[in-house]
This record gives sequence, structure tokens and C-alpha cells, in this order.
Amino acid sequence: MADWRAKRVVVTGDLIQDDSAEAYERFRDLMLPLKLRIHCVPGNHDVPALMRAVCGRPPFSYCAYEQVGDWLFVGIDSCVGSGAGGEVAREELDRLSDIVARSPARHVLLALHHPPVAVGSRWLDTVGLRNGDEVLERLRGLNRIRAVIFGHVHQVYDEDYHGIRILATPSTCRQFKPGSDEFAVDDKPPAYRRITLREDGKVDTELVWVRE
Ligand SMILES: [Fe+2]
Repeated sequence: MADWRAKRVVVTGDLIQDDSAEAYERFRDLMLPLKLRIHCVPGNHDVPALMRAVCGRPPFSYCAYEQVGDWLFVGIDSCVGSGAGGEVAREELDRLSDIVARSPARHVLLALHHPPVAVGSRWLDTVGLRNGDEVLERLRGLNRIRAVIFGHVHQVYDEDYHGIRILATPSTCRQFKPGSDEFAVDDKPPAYRRITLREDGKVDTELVWVRE
């Protein structure tokens, strides 16, 4: 992927930490020079009303969907209720089903903040997606979901679930230590993930660790 160039960006939540509009405006000002479409979903640290004010207008999108060629991208909200854990509301799952049903796209990439699977870290797995099994069942039933990307866990995850690639990317900020029972910060640098969506429904992906 030496000559790889991004065509769009997916941001999987927890954009800010201080509940301020200024933090979102900083995010906006950092991202606009990329001149790319920037798809966003909220995380447990986000403030939806403030985030929508920035991420609800082009070139950003907020829990939106867009089809490009054979691929449909959908972002969904997993931030139901308070606390660090998440849940995808039944209405949100139904919205996803409707979007997929109405799209002629052969392949779907889904983004949400919370992991629908356990990642093998005891403290993180208590603040994952409360209805992860229900979400996975729904995704499996839709048949065209090829990949799911999530944030929240600040570490690598890359597994197959019945033909669905389940991916987490280390944070663009601090990392969490994989496999830890309690909160622990890793010493790895920020990272992002390059994802190439192939015509056959597979994804090629590689991590890029950003060393300052
Ligand atoms: Fe989070």
C-alpha cells in the first residue's frame, strides 16, 4: 500500500474529553484541510448536541450512510444510556436494516463506537456493548455486512465473525494495554488504520503507528 491515498475518513467516536464546543471546533479545524468526506459516530465521551453542530454538516456526516460503488457505508449510534458502556437501540438496528434493504450495494461497512464482541480485557469487556449478541445476530442476518469497525478499546482487534471482519484500531491518542484486568495504559504511539474496500467484498487493511 505504498501509494495508498485516503478517499474518506471514518472517526469512531470519543472525539473530545472536556464537553466543550471548542473541542469540536478544534477537531473540525484539524480535519478540514484533508478535504475529504469525514464520517463520524459518537462515543461515550462525546456530547451529541455539540458533536452534531460540527459533524452534522458536510464534509462531515453523523451516523449517516453513503453508497460508493458496490459498497454502502453506515454509521450507527451505540451510545444509549449513561456510563461508559453502550447499547444499540432496537430503533437504530431497524434503521440499519432499512438502509441496507433499500440499498442495491453488494457490500456493507458498518461503523459504531462500542465493540459488539469481547476483546479479552476484563475491565473493557464490562463497558462494551450490552446487547452485542443481538447486534451480531442482526448483522449476520443482513447477509451483506462485510466489515464492522469500532473504537472505544484503544487497541488492535481483528477477527472474523461468520464472514464479517470485526476491526478495532488503536487510538489516535493514548493506547490501553491489551489483556489487562484493570485500566492500564500502553506505551504505544497513536495510530490509524488504512482500509481498502475490494470489489469482492473483502477488505485489505494495515495499521499505521504514528511516531512523533
Ligand atoms: Fe469510548
